[in-house]
Amino acid sequence: MKSRVLVTDNLSAAGLEILNSHPDIELDVRSGLSTEELKAALQEADGIIIRSGTKLKADILAGQRRLKAIVRAGVGVDNIDVTAATKEGIIVMNTPAGNTISTAEQTIAMMMSLVRNIAPAHASMKAGKWDRKYFTGSQLAGKTLGVVGLGRVGIAVAQRAIGLEMKVLGYDPFISADRAAELGIELYRDIDEMIVKCDIATVHTPLNDQTTNLLNKERLAKMPKGARVINCARGGIVNENDLADALESGHIAGAALDVFVSEPPEAGNRLIGQNNILLTPHLGASTEEAQELVALEAAEIIVNFFVKNEVRHAVNIAPVSASEMQGVKRYIDLAYRLGLLLGQQSEGQGIKSVQLQYKGDVSGRPTKLMTSAFTCGLLHLALGDRINIVNSQLMASERHIAVQESTTKDSGDFTSLIQATVETDNGKVSAAGTIFGNEYLRLVRLNGHQLDAYLDGILLIYRHQDKPGLIGHLGTIFGKHGINIAHLALGREKLGGNAVAVVNLDSMPTEQAVKEVSGTLDVNAVDIVKLPTAGAGLPWLGL
Ligand code: NAD
Ligand code: MLT
Repeated sequence: MKSRVLVTDNLSAAGLEILNSHPDIELDVRSGLSTEELKAALQEADGIIIRSGTKLKADILAGQRRLKAIVRAGVGVDNIDVTAATKEGIIVMNTPAGNTISTAEQTIAMMMSLVRNIAPAHASMKAGKWDRKYFTGSQLAGKTLGVVGLGRVGIAVAQRAIGLEMKVLGYDPFISADRAAELGIELYRDIDEMIVKCDIATVHTPLNDQTTNLLNKERLAKMPKGARVINCARGGIVNENDLADALESGHIAGAALDVFVSEPPEAGNRLIGQNNILLTPHLGASTEEAQELVALEAAEIIVNFFVKNEVRHAVNIAPVSASEMQGVKRYIDLAYRLGLLLGQQSEGQGIKSVQLQYKGDVSGRPTKLMTSAFTCGLLHLALGDRINIVNSQLMASERHIAVQESTTKDSGDFTSLIQATVETDNGKVSAAGTIFGNEYLRLVRLNGHQLDAYLDGILLIYRHQDKPGLIGHLGTIFGKHGINIAHLALGREKLGGNAVAVVNLDSMPTEQAVKEVSGTLDVNAVDIVKLPTAGAGLPWLGL
């Protein structure tokens, strides 16, 4: 079946063409949708590509059961409620690099225009004037630029400013001193120490709780008198009212803004009326090159997601390439089945915590995905198809279930082993699984017993005393009820000691058959565990 992809913002033709011509994708381009229309359209979509125009807020994403992926053609995901998407199990991906250069060039263009009064000089000539004195500007060479946020755009701006012979200072708590030095940027770990030295400050951070109002009244006041401010990142990183005050007082000589708290800015926004300001309507990424790059990348991301299960540039799940996914699919399946097994074994006992250990070769693969898959299985009984690989960690933490994972290269008896222990109010249950011959999923440990059982279909699990004749007797019970045994695995502590049996059955045993097994002398704790059939796809990601 084709995956249906909705596009609700303007996407360049090259991107649409990729989607339109792909045999596995059905493209649906719609724009100007009302909230209700968007909600309805999403109910029939497997994926959506948006730019900044479409707002995917919690009320729109709530209850969207078909939608699996949101791709933002661009960087900022602040028009998407990522937490709500994660809760609904929807992957959010973006195209972080396609518009970096264009945005850096826009920043440099704004900086040059600002210090040379290009916009007002142009307007004055258009008004028929020839005023050379009034528009005397400043030279950039030799001036100090402070770059707040040294990510993709911040670094590209810094490199260009160095090319203009500016002295570049930088503030970013997450960049290494070595990297900054390599780029020729004087790094500060305290923004207040940097800001006092800047002739011009430009911000390039994401907008979040830490960066909202990063340049506020106090910090603007600390800048040297006559300094200038640029924001081509997100409205609100520089407090708009505080900036308007600083411009009016003359302490800040000029500001250039491409982004605003409200876009378009609300009527009465004090910044719009300032004389010493340069404004553009969020044009940082508005070049043909950038739009083509982000559209192509967004289209590729969504196609590869649906066709190859690749997760690229995801903001709410560990990334995994198509080739990695090929190698890890079976382990994701193994982890999921172990989760289903232990979820059914611990039903009604209150799950407190989970410990997963990845041993041997598997420890070098994307274990976070396997942990998420295990958690899906573990909570499947409680949450059904509401849980998936995207939201399972969140679902577990909302239920105060601590999920921990560890890895070791030491594999013990197997090339790879996934070992899971679930702590419940009633004690611990544990299981370990491996893959034989790159294909066959096996349960090799159950509550401390070594065995070799299939991890598919219907499992009847019981504990017993290791005694002659018992297995034959149970076989007779199943035979009498017309239930075929596909495989039988036994694990025992020692000859005649405590033992566990995992019986793979070809059909669901009747209540009477289970009663007879439970009533057999020396047999106790009989459980039926239902797992997907061998080779059945995983219910999410179309695996
Ligand atoms: P990025 O993720 O590559 O870089 C962001 C940098 O900010 C990172 O290095 C991070 O360490 C740093 N940072 C995070 N919190 C910080 C803090 N509290 N203080 C200082 N630094 C902090 O992102 P990017 O691609 O460089 O984009 C930067 C910004 O530009 C984003 O807000 C993005 O949405 C915006 N953007 C705007 C346009 C436009 O059209 N105007 C286009 C592209 C990007
Ligand atoms: C981005 O976040 O990529 C930019 O703001 C450009 C855009 O909104 O498309």
